[in-house]
Amino acid sequence: MKNVLVIGSTGQIGSELTGELRKRYGNSNVVAGYIQGAEPTGELKEAGPCAIADVTNADVIAEVVRKYNIDTIYNLAALLSVVAESKPRLAWKIGIDGLWNILEVARENGCAVFTPSSIGSFGPDTPREMTPQDTIQRPATIYGVSKVTTELLSDYYQKKYGVDTRSVRFPGIISYVTPPGGGTTDYAVDIYYSAVKGEKFVCPIGKGTRMDMMYMPDALNAAIQLMEADKSKLVHHNAFNIASMSFDPETIYQAIKKYKPEFEMVYEVDPLKQSIANSWPDQMDDSAAREEWGWMPQYDLDSMTKDMLEKLAVKLLK
Ligand SMILES: NC(=O)c1ccc[n+]([C@@H]2O[C@H](COP(=O)([O-])OP(=O)(O)OC[C@H]3O[C@@H](n4cnc5c(N)ncnc54)[C@H](O)[C@@H]3O)[C@@H](O)[C@H]2O)c1
Repeated sequence: MKNVLVIGSTGQIGSELTGELRKRYGNSNVVAGYIQGAEPTGELKEAGPCAIADVTNADVIAEVVRKYNIDTIYNLAALLSVVAESKPRLAWKIGIDGLWNILEVARENGCAVFTPSSIGSFGPDTPREMTPQDTIQRPATIYGVSKVTTELLSDYYQKKYGVDTRSVRFPGIISYVTPPGGGTTDYAVDIYYSAVKGEKFVCPIGKGTRMDMMYMPDALNAAIQLMEADKSKLVHHNAFNIASMSFDPETIYQAIKKYKPEFEMVYEVDPLKQSIANSWPDQMDDSAAREEWGWMPQYDLDSMTKDMLEKLAVKLLK
């Protein structure tokens, strides 16, 4: 049986990952870590243990790990790409100084650590089509710089100290549960809200800008499946490309129109978001993840769209 700490449990991915881990490992075995000002509420708070776990304070993390006998840490603390551009020092403090604290605690207490990287770890010089697992990573954003460093530091601790660090490069994650936290791919969530509310969608990303995206259930499975994978089969550790769908705004708009023919979209391109999107891959090659630990997504654009529209309609009616 695993004892898990999810750091950043109130975020877009953390809130659902904590629920999924509790389903699989038992409510009392999964601690929802949070910071002051972003406390868990509702089911997240009530279903299992919660504890302050601020990554900038190594002593606090160590205390939680020892108190709950934690063997696996899912570290989701970060500032997302758009937010990080306005607070680069804080992005580094949380993403890298924070990771250092976690890795030290993990080394001392024998924990495995999952710290996601992103499509943002690539840059303008990276091959855009079928972006290879091992390729040029010279990102142009502080988010990307911190993600590449995350990958390197995690590999360093794995090789030097034997800490079991593993991660994936998440594409833009789409979900109807918790709203996204200020990333470049947020439009692909917002568009569904507009469609269900019957509002015209103003798209901040230009026509023809393709990016990798993924539905939340696949993202959660990827994280958990990788952490449960047979270590001896892993060649890479940090971080695996994972892909399931890649589209531009026009393509997702048409996918929604199939179910909501009256839906309208106009473009009002946001220069910051567009410049970040332009530096990211169009589509990643995820064959290493498929070969080394059996990664296999379940959702494509159409099945995700159908599910998103149905679930959001129920949610917004409440
Ligand atoms: N959501 C996506 O589309 C996406 C895509 C690629 C990669 N990722 C990565 O996945 C991870 C989670 O992303 P998300 O979308 O859930 O982010 P989010 O912004 O929704 O949540 C981040 C969480 O980190 C917490 N946090 C902030 N400062 C902290 C600190 N000092 N100590 C502990 N926790 C702190 C916040 O309270 C929040 O719960 C991040 O590493 C992100 O870069 C996300």
